[in-house]
Amino acid sequence: MYSPSTIASLLPFLSVVLAQPLQTRDAPQFIITSLGATFPEPGPFGDESVDSSVSIAVTYPDPASTSSGTLDTTCRVGWPSGTNPGPTAWTPCANPALQFRLPTDGWTSTRNFRVELWETLTADGAGLDGTQLLKSNPGNPSDPDTYMFCVQRGKFNPLTCNLTGPFGTSARTVVIPASEGSTRPN
Ligand SMILES: *[C@@H]1O[C@H](CO)[C@@H](O)[C@H](O)[C@H]1NC(C)=O
Repeated sequence: MYSPSTIASLLPFLSVVLAQPLQTRDAPQFIITSLGATFPEPGPFGDESVDSSVSIAVTYPDPASTSSGTLDTTCRVGWPSGTNPGPTAWTPCANPALQFRLPTDGWTSTRNFRVELWETLTADGAGLDGTQLLKSNPGNPSDPDTYMFCVQRGKFNPLTCNLTGPFGTSARTVVIPASEGSTRPN
């Protein structure tokens, strides 16, 4: 048996332990774990007649988990050769509980665009939304949105982008805080 004073001294620890899973759930997030993009590249060495695409792998909150369980899926948007890459409509990911788009508000160029993710959580359409600018900006490595490295390698190749540091050296992920919404943003 514990004496009342021992139990009293344990209570603060118990409340901290019990609060942990709730705190984790209170801060839902999407994590882009990889990205591969291909875009037309004009100029004497580029290739303008290629299919374009942005493909990502995403870790997202598992709605069935009582703590901080996650699921993984992949998402892709694409444009046929001859079409200029640009903002996209919402597109289902491989697991359609998650949707992906490049919103109009945020598209600057193939080296500077916004990504947005929406996870449907309930039958009435509520869910989680998260968005992040992704830039390739080797001239300014301290830019906090410099998540991509885009490069046109060799003659007659397209532009390709991946998620690495500003100079393409180390692989990295993009952690995007998600916020609850009653409907998917338009
Ligand atoms: C980098 O991007 C290219 C072009 O889309 C893609 O083929 C390749 O798989 C990507 N690499 C990684 C590590 O994501």
